[in-house]
Amino acid sequence: MSKKILILNGSPKKDGNTATLVEWFCQGAKPKDADVEIVRTANLKYKVNGCISCRKCQESEKYECCINDDAKPVLARMANVDVIVFATPLYFFSASAQTKLIMDRMFSLYKWDNAAGTMKTPLMDKTLVLLASAFEDIGLDALEKPFKLTADYTGMKFESILVANAGTSGEITKKRPDVKQKVEELAVKLTK
Ligand SMILES: Cc1cc2nc3c(=O)[nH]c(=O)nc-3n(C[C@H](O)[C@H](O)[C@H](O)COP(=O)(O)O)c2cc1C
Repeated sequence: MSKKILILNGSPKKDGNTATLVEWFCQGAKPKDADVEIVRTANLKYKVNGCISCRKCQESEKYECCINDDAKPVLARMANVDVIVFATPLYFFSASAQTKLIMDRMFSLYKWDNAAGTMKTPLMDKTLVLLASAFEDIGLDALEKPFKLTADYTGMKFESILVANAGTSGEITKKRPDVKQKVEELAVKLTK
């Protein structure tokens, strides 16, 4: 059966380095006929600023966010794919705000029982991928940490490709042409 992949492109730039990383990933996934969906998180319209910690999701049986905005179907899709790819530029040694906004709304995909000390999530056993680029070669390790910790905490497999010295938006093809093959190979591996 073909693999389902959801790619969250968290760059505000339509044709930037993140878009190129996503394109390379899709090229690798294409021969395998994977079901790939790309969401540009910068285009999502939100009713709230990030997760507002209302915790209504924790009172419901369903793994869904109670806020009816563009994040809701994206979160629902996350629960139903094999691979979730976060693609983000490095912004001040962290993920872009456009990435973080949707990430925090993933709270609704977990059910905690604090008394019992348990947690359940449909994300378990999926793969979380981080594709990230930066102008310089400082801080991509800091960016990677929360994604890796989230994957470990959730029981997800983790893969990352971190591209330092990628230049400004649109320069990655010129400055880091060596990365294309790596990204394509990762996509091939994950769509097997
Ligand atoms: C708001 C902002 C913050 C940035 N912060 C960093 C940074 O901390 N370190 C770095 O090396 N590059 C930084 N950059 C550069 C981008 O991470 C880099 O050019 C990236 O490849 C751009 O991806 P994009 O074209 O998809 O937006 C920053 C760029 C912007 C616009």
